[in-house]
Amino acid sequence: DWSMGNEKELQKVFNQADAYDEKELGQKLKEFGIKAPDSGNELTDPYPFNLMFPTNIGPSGKETGFLRPETAQGIFVNFKYCYEQSGGVPIGIAQIGKAYRNEIAPRGGLIRLREFSQAEIEYFVHPEKKDFPKFHRAKVADLALMLHPHQQQLAGEGTIKMTLGEAVKKGIIANETLGYMIGRTAMFMMDIGIRGEHLRFRQHLPSEMAHYACDCWDAEVEGAGGWTETVGIADRSCYDLTQHAKHANVDLQVSETLDKPIEVTAFTLSKKVKGPIGKAHGKAGKAIMDHLDALGDAEKEALNGKGGKVTVDGTDYDLTPQMSMFERKTTKTSVVKFTPSVIEPSFGVDRLISGVFEHAYYVREGGDAEDGSMTRGVLALTPLVAP
Ligand code: GLY
Repeated sequence: DWSMGNEKELQKVFNQADAYDEKELGQKLKEFGIKAPDSGNELTDPYPFNLMFPTNIGPSGKETGFLRPETAQGIFVNFKYCYEQSGGVPIGIAQIGKAYRNEIAPRGGLIRLREFSQAEIEYFVHPEKKDFPKFHRAKVADLALMLHPHQQQLAGEGTIKMTLGEAVKKGIIANETLGYMIGRTAMFMMDIGIRGEHLRFRQHLPSEMAHYACDCWDAEVEGAGGWTETVGIADRSCYDLTQHAKHANVDLQVSETLDKPIEVTAFTLSKKVKGPIGKAHGKAGKAIMDHLDALGDAEKEALNGKGGKVTVDGTDYDLTPQMSMFERKTTKTSVVKFTPSVIEPSFGVDRLISGVFEHAYYVREGGDAEDGSMTRGVLALTPLVAP
């Protein structure tokens, strides 16, 4: 009931509905006495479920695979090859294709499909250099858009109209690269026929953000069914490449040559441990040393000169102080390695088409339709997308 004089409170709840966890959502459903819309039946408590479709692969069918829930991962697994071909970051890679999600309510024409088309760009950048020279061109930085930052959503307030330049300057949009992608996305959408007054950019709430993202904005298009998320523009930081590198045991770092060499200090395993480890642990010696060298600085510090127990490939080994010695070495280098961050504009192609059709359609009065009526339906597509 929106007529109780507490619209702002209700708006706050509405704005956060996507971000509640299972328990909070259950409490809200009870608090507001929500029932099944048609039958009025009680609802069960919310529970999480897998949005990915499992399937059996291979001749025996004994291996489980999953249909991809986003095209993006194809780009991450091909990153090393693309990087080698291009020789540096920033580098942008784009892909279009089908993606699959176990949606519980697939309906609304092209709006919610279990099989849908995505067009995604992964734009890899240095994690500390997310500035973007082209952002300052007037047509992007001066572009005023309807923004719905998370502060406004949490306060139950509406959108604000602001230029992208100001939003980045005030820290509302995390960085210039993200701001540039938001600007170019808006320009593209309006070029193909989405009407600016029915387009807004909503920032994800900190609690709503996907596990991989550190800032995310959805381009939402208004149609007869309300506002629909159509494009997601996320700063995925270095989450994906780090995970692929870890689980596939492949180095996905890139190198950068500096203008001036810098000093770097490495904390590495001392060569003096080789004899004692080999003597005590024989063939397992190399694996133990590799394991020790790969530990983080804090773990190395805890073992340094003290010894302790380590587990390598499921076996425990006791190390004496002579077997766990590390040393700090400072060297000069002009090449640094890092895992790139990635900014991702992700387009829901079906939803874009649906929005374009809806915004292009109108009824012309005083027509001379074949059925004799005085109105005529017009699909006024811009020449850019007209067949
Ligand atoms: N790649 C982002 C998404 O699928 O939503």
